[in-house]
Amino acid sequence: MPSLGLRTLIDVLEQKQRVRRIAKTVDRTWEPACIAKWMFQALPDEERFGIIFESVKGSKFRLATGILGSSRAAYAMALGVEPDEINEKWVDALLHPREPVEVARAPSQEVVEAGDAAKLSDLPIPVWTPGKDAAPYITTLVLTKSAETGIQNMGVYRTQVRDDHSVVINLNPAGQGTRNARTYMDKGKPAPIAWVIGADPAVLLAATAKLPYGVNEATIAGGLTGAPIELVKAKTVDLMVPANAEFIIEGEVIPGEIAQEGPFGEFAGYMGGVGPRPVARITAITHRKDAIYYGFSSQMPPSESTIMQSLSNAGVLLKQLRYDLGEPTVTDAVIDLNYGGTMGHVIVAMEPRDAAHSKRIGCLVANMTGLKRITMVDPDIDIRDPDHIDWALNARMDPGKDIVVVEGAQFAHMDPSVRPVGGRPGPASKLVVDATLKVDAGTFSLPSKDYMMRALELWKEAGLPEFEMPKRARLRIDRS
Ligand SMILES: Cc1cc2nc3c(=O)[nH]c(=O)nc-3n(C[C@H](O)[C@H](O)[C@H](O)COP(=O)(O)O)c2cc1C
Repeated sequence: MPSLGLRTLIDVLEQKQRVRRIAKTVDRTWEPACIAKWMFQALPDEERFGIIFESVKGSKFRLATGILGSSRAAYAMALGVEPDEINEKWVDALLHPREPVEVARAPSQEVVEAGDAAKLSDLPIPVWTPGKDAAPYITTLVLTKSAETGIQNMGVYRTQVRDDHSVVINLNPAGQGTRNARTYMDKGKPAPIAWVIGADPAVLLAATAKLPYGVNEATIAGGLTGAPIELVKAKTVDLMVPANAEFIIEGEVIPGEIAQEGPFGEFAGYMGGVGPRPVARITAITHRKDAIYYGFSSQMPPSESTIMQSLSNAGVLLKQLRYDLGEPTVTDAVIDLNYGGTMGHVIVAMEPRDAAHSKRIGCLVANMTGLKRITMVDPDIDIRDPDHIDWALNARMDPGKDIVVVEGAQFAHMDPSVRPVGGRPGPASKLVVDATLKVDAGTFSLPSKDYMMRALELWKEAGLPEFEMPKRARLRIDRS
């Protein structure tokens, strides 16, 4: 199945009850966020769904959230693959990027509101942590460009609404959006910026991937879809924006204009602080005639934000290890869905060439990423099965020999564990746990495969309950 456009994806997900609609008029200052929070906090991954609020008080537009990132299954459907194929889809896209193409007309520009007519209060922008966030926040793909190279960048940077025509953007000082904006602002020029709402799923997902500076995420989105992404000239700023999107908000980051941003509910599970961030002026809002506003749900994990970032960045890590760092021994990687995607727990499966190989790779991952815990296992472990990982940790890891604490590591300011009482955050450390087998431990303590498979016939004949063989059991029986 090819990857799908957002509207087709919504139809497909709705048929599978993975998108639900709420018809009652909702108050965007609290109701949509709280409903989304219940969905993520109360339901297990396999029962979650995206939500479309059909009627939002004070706006003529519908509001969607959680469409791409409610579950692994929804994310996989957005890329047109099975959940177990997500990583390889990413590896393939990164190896085969496709240049975007320019088009003259675009659904995202069916309606153009420029200047004073472009009012943010027309959009159903929610408050995501009601009672705690400073304001409504735009949570979507942000497009910037380098004045030096002309290369565009896509990332998701939360953006606080100040008034109808201006915003404060959480452009992380070390991030790529900031680097691009500086290529204009250091010369005293306003930096072009656009918020892309409801683009093709591959475009939105590409923006959640941590890629090297200078890689245009639109080319990776093309690799994900297998076809070039269509871009159109923005109406009021010098940017090429996705032709297939629900809304594009165009603007300019104003040199020297800074405002306080935050507080905002963070992925670490706590409220983030307040800090100075750049201000942008809105120059236009363009949209489809019957546009759906789409905001990513974030805050306390698991959330749409942590799910998308974890799934995208496990694929990116796999490609980097295998192809950029020449480690074909790495077979798979999974990042837990309960933290910041690039800052949580990664489990890497590999075929070690010697007894210290997996520890070396674990330390490499600790140093090259923001991931906090790195667990190394053999390829005969199902890295998506916590019970199987736990068995590997007990059976194949001796804490005295197999744990490395990497000091002086990258850290997230919103992580309370790196905050000393009364001091400044950091430095932080990482935990590398090598749970690969270092000696020949003999065969598994299960009957041989032949016996086990024959016993299944007896199981059936006896009318015992049917089951789907867990991958953990298959991996063990195959080697018994
Ligand atoms: C919902 C959501 C909100 C995010 N908010 C921010 C943010 O405010 N600032 C930031 O630096 N990264 C944020 N991220 C993470 C970045 O989008 C992600 O690291 C991305 O790869 C950054 O792109 P870049 O490396 O091109 O800058 C957010 C991600 C999601 C999914």
